[in-house]
Amino acid sequence: MINRLIAVAPMLDWTDRHFRYLMRIISKHVLLYSEMVTCGAVLHGDRHRLLGFHSAEHPVALQLGGADATQLAQCAVVAEQFGYDEVNLNVGCPSDRVQAGRFGACLMLEPDVVAAAVAAMQAVVNIPVTVKSRIGVDQFDQYKHLYHFVKTVAEAGCQVFIIHARKAWLQGLSPKQNREIPPLQYEVVQRLKQDFPQLTLVINGGITDLIAARQHHLALDGVMIGRQAYTDPYSLIEVDRLFYQDEHPLLSRQQVVAQYLPYIADQLAQGERLASMAKHLLGLLQKVPGAKRWRRYLSTHIHQPNAGVEVIEQALALLPNEV
Ligand SMILES: Cc1cc2nc3c(=O)[nH]c(=O)nc-3n(C[C@H](O)[C@H](O)[C@H](O)COP(=O)(O)O)c2cc1C
Repeated sequence: MINRLIAVAPMLDWTDRHFRYLMRIISKHVLLYSEMVTCGAVLHGDRHRLLGFHSAEHPVALQLGGADATQLAQCAVVAEQFGYDEVNLNVGCPSDRVQAGRFGACLMLEPDVVAAAVAAMQAVVNIPVTVKSRIGVDQFDQYKHLYHFVKTVAEAGCQVFIIHARKAWLQGLSPKQNREIPPLQYEVVQRLKQDFPQLTLVINGGITDLIAARQHHLALDGVMIGRQAYTDPYSLIEVDRLFYQDEHPLLSRQQVVAQYLPYIADQLAQGERLASMAKHLLGLLQKVPGAKRWRRYLSTHIHQPNAGVEVIEQALALLPNEV
């Protein structure tokens, strides 16, 4: 059973393997999710590039986008073979591209399709198959709709639901607006827990600090943090102490970077560009002396041709003291 107390959300273009490695330096235990990878990409794309990850990233979950049970089952097998600890189905993304493929949030309208997919996936892997959804879509946003969705999918064998506590509008709002405009309704997820006490329910949406995360833990089984974890990853530095009873010494931001540098060097040697790893460091310093200088220096220099780890070392040298 995966310890899922705190998870970092799947975020396209953000939670790539490099960011996940950085996050793993900050927390030894938090559960990390990949970006969404579509079934088509898994089945026909460059698997090593799309799915490869560092062994230090465990526990790590692969999020899939798709609706076809047979294809999803094939992808789940690939995920397990690659060593992922969990496979998660995206039932929350409202983007036009995803809707055109009839998956993502619009699948909340088709609980039987999700149930069939979950059953097919679970039949072929030993890792947990989980679902990440919204609380509703369009006018199907009453509690009875969510209840029916969760009940149907749970009966197919899904025991873990991650619920972004706002509905999605399938038309008229961009994905970004769909993360901001529909109001958060945490009470809906709490009600779900009362109705399904046997399920593991993880709440997501608008959780920006660990104190709030602790509050949610009183009523629910886990908390997933998205944008906050990316834009200010150091804000999770105390997560191991607060949620995993691991009292290891807290690293300073400079120490986090120092532990990231050998990874960057290794990736550079494998032909990766500096910016792919270093862009994730931009948010590491927030509201501390030197933060602006740090960001400015990195943004200016990491994209230059042949830029190497010295760019990060130079940026570190600009900081006035240990933060
Ligand atoms: C840049 C970005 C990309 C995202 N990509 C995905 C994705 O691939 N799959 C998914 O389920 N959710 C995706 N999300 C939504 C997040 O997982 C999360 O549900 C949402 O941001 C709400 O949580 P938060 O308020 O803690 O950020 C994305 C969010 C952002 C900001």
